[in-house]
Amino acid sequence: TSHVISGLEARLALAEAVAREAGEVALDYFRKRETLVIETKRDPQDVVSIADRDVENLIRARFHQAYPGDGVLGEEYGLEHGSSGFTWVVDPIDGTSPFVNGMPNWCVSIGLLHDGVPVLGVISAPCHGELYAAALGMGATLNGKTLTLDLSRNIRNAVTGIGANNYVTPAFVGKMVESLLDAGGNFVRNGSGALMLAYVAAGRLVGYYEPYMHAWDCMAGYCLVKEAGGWYHPFPTQGETLTKGAPVLAAAPGAIEDLRSIAGL
Ligand code: IPD
Ligand code: CA
Ligand code: CA
Ligand code: CA
Repeated sequence: TSHVISGLEARLALAEAVAREAGEVALDYFRKRETLVIETKRDPQDVVSIADRDVENLIRARFHQAYPGDGVLGEEYGLEHGSSGFTWVVDPIDGTSPFVNGMPNWCVSIGLLHDGVPVLGVISAPCHGELYAAALGMGATLNGKTLTLDLSRNIRNAVTGIGANNYVTPAFVGKMVESLLDAGGNFVRNGSGALMLAYVAAGRLVGYYEPYMHAWDCMAGYCLVKEAGGWYHPFPTQGETLTKGAPVLAAAPGAIEDLRSIAGL
């Protein structure tokens, strides 16, 4: 099927090691979260702390050292262009709100683009002892076990993840919830969109929808979902659109049609 991209396997091994290390650093901060100064970004729900910045700095340092020609895009420090055709797409802590509020649903999310295509996804969820990993043409795994989506699962016999933030268009979320319930489905939100995309790859959720997310929230999850046998709505990654947000939708095969029609995508 697809050509194996040169240098991808080595980057997958590195990304797994980096995600584990970053996950441990984040977990240390999580355990002492009472001491963290919580700052807000766009609004009081949009939180951040030194933990997010430290973890992103660590991840950037590891990738710069191993692959100085690779670009890096991260939530806290933005986009640095590279020359190799590879761009790492990093969310140091996805689920900062659960993180600062003492809930375990957060993760380190590391994606990789090759000429704009998501080719790798590694997600570490340290509170759950879970490491998800995938690379284009190499399959998806959870703690080393291959993930393969069950074709019999659909919106009526399984649960769908729905995400929301306060940036734009909250009305879409309400409509989506209403249509999903009307169609005989039901929804879950755990506060980490990246982790919920990994749950789609793991077959725990049959799909995930959020009307507006950034590349660092979904690139790793998208690769995981695809390699497990699922589908995702294309995200604009070429040029300047990379740093802008877009609608996010991923689904297991049996839920694609219903979720696309419910989300209007
Ligand atoms: C957020 C989480 C949340 C989603 C938001 C994201 P952050 O990322 O993924 O689940 O609903 O849209 O911004 O800020 O915790 O990295
Ligand atoms: Ca954030
Ligand atoms: Ca995020
Ligand atoms: Ca984040």
